[in-house]
Amino acid sequence: MQTIPALLETRLRAAVTEPCEVPLCVTPASDTRFGDYQTNAAMLLAKTRRANPRAVAQEILSQLQTDDICSTVEIAGAGFLNFTMRPDWIQERVEKLRSDSTFGVPQPATPRCIVIDFSSPNVAKPMHVGHIRSTILGDSLARVATFIGHRVIRDNHIGDWGTQFGMLLHGWKTILDAVALDHDPLAEMERIYKNVSARCKEDAAVLDAAKHELVRLQAGDTENLALWHEMIRLSQSQFDSIYGRLEIKFDFTLGESFYNKRLKPVVEELRSKGIARESDGAVCVFSDGQFPQEQDPFLIKDKDGWRDNPALVLKSDGAANYTTTDLATLQYRIETWHPDEIVYVTDGRQQLHFRQFFAIFKRWQPEAAEHVKCSHVWFGSILGDDGKPFKTRSGETIRLADLLDEAEERSFAQVSERNPTLSEEERREIARIIGIGAVKYADLLPHRQGDYVFSWDRMLSFQGNTAPYLQNAYVRIRSIFRKLGEAGAVWDQDQPISLEQPTELALGKRLLQFGEVLPLVLVDHRPNTLANYLYELANTFHAFYEACPVLKSEGSQRASRLALCELSARLLKTGLQLLGIEVPDRM
Ligand code: ARG
Repeated sequence: MQTIPALLETRLRAAVTEPCEVPLCVTPASDTRFGDYQTNAAMLLAKTRRANPRAVAQEILSQLQTDDICSTVEIAGAGFLNFTMRPDWIQERVEKLRSDSTFGVPQPATPRCIVIDFSSPNVAKPMHVGHIRSTILGDSLARVATFIGHRVIRDNHIGDWGTQFGMLLHGWKTILDAVALDHDPLAEMERIYKNVSARCKEDAAVLDAAKHELVRLQAGDTENLALWHEMIRLSQSQFDSIYGRLEIKFDFTLGESFYNKRLKPVVEELRSKGIARESDGAVCVFSDGQFPQEQDPFLIKDKDGWRDNPALVLKSDGAANYTTTDLATLQYRIETWHPDEIVYVTDGRQQLHFRQFFAIFKRWQPEAAEHVKCSHVWFGSILGDDGKPFKTRSGETIRLADLLDEAEERSFAQVSERNPTLSEEERREIARIIGIGAVKYADLLPHRQGDYVFSWDRMLSFQGNTAPYLQNAYVRIRSIFRKLGEAGAVWDQDQPISLEQPTELALGKRLLQFGEVLPLVLVDHRPNTLANYLYELANTFHAFYEACPVLKSEGSQRASRLALCELSARLLKTGLQLLGIEVPDRM
């Protein structure tokens, strides 16, 4: 189904007789009292033609053919055109929506292949609250892209290689507590890592021992390789338990070590192409002067002016690093999957890394860079009440597993208070759906580039823009159908929808907006666009439900209203699923 803005844009283009260089965009009306959609096309055209905007608007209007879809088109303000859609036409489209499997989302003419690199925790470290954003955002983007009809590849680029393994191996061989490892492998691995890393700073002998273990691992020593595999296995099983709870799936978990063989050739190629050169024993990429200084990722400004800020691709000890690995990974992904876009979901502190890495890619593989869009989708931090990074009371980072436990526990207390008669099993299941949903929604709702304050009370509240509010909206609609069944009444599903009351028409228009809103999520990689839409949908539904009796109405009117209820519930459920959130049957 073509969206209404797209349809109006086609009509607009046909009405503009002279050749036109400006984009003719139709957007939802900023004030719905004056129409449903608007365009500033006449104003833009007037600028290029040096004409009066209202006169241009008048000229367009005289050519515009929209009688079949609009009840009025009016000129407003400095030269806006406001469109009000015909109620009978809206009604027909809503009726079509009932049997449209994508709820009005237009299918892409050519589906794109999108690789989403998300979550990507590091081996031997517990996943903490910082990983939640990448995991939840990346998953939602993948769900939306798949729903729209793109080919999506979910790749978990776990950190399973690097200098930390020297310290881990040394710690494993000297101070490992087998009982503790058995009890909580990641906590024990974290403990030995912290212990050795602290001692490395003070004691050259420990540092040497750790380096020695790393060299042996890199050289393929059997014992060290086996221990390294064991560390990965233990970590992966903890990651998997969290992914299971969050219902997150990956197509690949290749990890950084998968690219080891490609690292040296990448560095060699960068050198031979003159992109990287030696500097102080390391191999680095410097500015090539193609960007203005303010935008150059290889320059940095200090009090003495601009100076070099090169990207290392080989450290002075001969080891490749994060940037080298990302270049090799990109090469592999392009060769293997031929993607149109690669999306990297990480926190905002990695912005410089990605700017440098993308700039190196353009210099290294200019043709590929023309075709493959690379997007760094970054996000801000989660803060505690005090406005500082969210920590436990004793100042430790919060483990994701503990956070999810607490979400379910708090939600369980609420559910039990509301539904004391349900069995414990049922209450646990509802609490799980609400608790996990609340955490996810609270994370997806704010603009991703801002920081947000973590608040249990707010995210678990049934009031306001929260997951429980939306889940409850769904549950309440479902209960209408339960009551219908209990009363032994039947619903004639073949009766068409008829939008008579203003709140019915408003709901119909809101349902039709889904097809416009969903594609926007992928434009700037912001699932909060969808979250806000669902909140508005729930509010529009409530306004309708308050004004229009459903079960107490009769005949074709009741059938039409039931159909509106059913469609609203289905859309709420689908929208929440695209955010990775489930809905309970009752709550
Ligand atoms: N493991 C990294 C971290 O925890 C994130 C990796 C993101 N992906 C990438 N291709 N660089 O910070």
